[in-house]
Amino acid sequence: MKNRLRRLRVNEAMRSLVRENSVRIEDLIYPVFIIEGTNIKNPVNSMPGIYQYSIDRLSEELDRVMESGIPGVLLFGIPEHKDERGSGAYNEKGVVQEAVSYIKKEYPQLLVIADVCLCEYTSHGHCGLIDASCGKVLNDETLPLLAQMSVSLAKAGADIIAPSDMMDGRVGYIRNALDEAGFQDIAIMAYSAKFASAYYSPFRDAAHSAPGFGDRKTYQMDPANGREAMREIAADIEEGADMIMVKPALAYLDVIKEASGRFDLPVVTYNVSGEYSLVKAAAAAGYIDEKRIVMENMTAMKRAGAKIIITYHALDVAGWLKE
Ligand code: PBG
Ligand code: ZN
Repeated sequence: MKNRLRRLRVNEAMRSLVRENSVRIEDLIYPVFIIEGTNIKNPVNSMPGIYQYSIDRLSEELDRVMESGIPGVLLFGIPEHKDERGSGAYNEKGVVQEAVSYIKKEYPQLLVIADVCLCEYTSHGHCGLIDASCGKVLNDETLPLLAQMSVSLAKAGADIIAPSDMMDGRVGYIRNALDEAGFQDIAIMAYSAKFASAYYSPFRDAAHSAPGFGDRKTYQMDPANGREAMREIAADIEEGADMIMVKPALAYLDVIKEASGRFDLPVVTYNVSGEYSLVKAAAAAGYIDEKRIVMENMTAMKRAGAKIIITYHALDVAGWLKE
């Protein structure tokens, strides 16, 4: 009985033969920030390697995505103009709507996932409409705007609609609106278990979407609640979600694991901005080996049960997988 556990690890061929999980380029989604205007490529300071692109320079990034074999991008918009009702979000000539048409024309094979939320477009930075008298987020009043945003993005050519606002009932509302507008084939990737996390702060710089007052705790989940996450996911499935998401990823691997055990829809996880920034900062300081840390993190998400990984590391990971 000597070496009972170790004999399956004697060399790489043996380790590879018995390896349970692996990361595939086909599972990765790369987030892209699109800013209104022309000739812009702005670095995001807190996220080394990540830029905001205007549509006329988007090909610099998308050519790399196509070459890498990454199947899809997740789009976020940064409009010039913001207002109380986030009107830029559902304008048919909005920055993301224009970007989607451009991408579908120039890169027809690329899957285009459009994030649906108002926070990048509202003057107050919240994900829904605000009751001016008390500052509360108006859940039900927000739903028609999210639906209008979703339909406008589907019209522009988006393949997948990804609502990240966390209003109750939005998946069903959006599904109905898409179906009524003739977009029965457009899938919904629901940000189902989205926690009120400090890991989003670099994103809020990147997307200019920090709330002007208060926080998002009345609509995003309490990080203490894993069981409630299952209720959120079940509700989204009931309402017609095609894929369910857990976000962030690394501090919530238990939630990914539980979701993948309980539900038979593809589980997506979003390896968010703060998770990326921590790795990039430690790597820049020479404290860690970036490639090994990133690949270990990716493997952990797969082992927990994530089918699809949205990550700012996607281009690097794709490169490393081809080495
Ligand atoms: C907008 C949205 C956020 C993220 C994705 N969509 C930020 C937030 O909810 O404040 C976070 C992504 C990241 O941190 O990488 N609703
Ligand atoms: Zn939002």
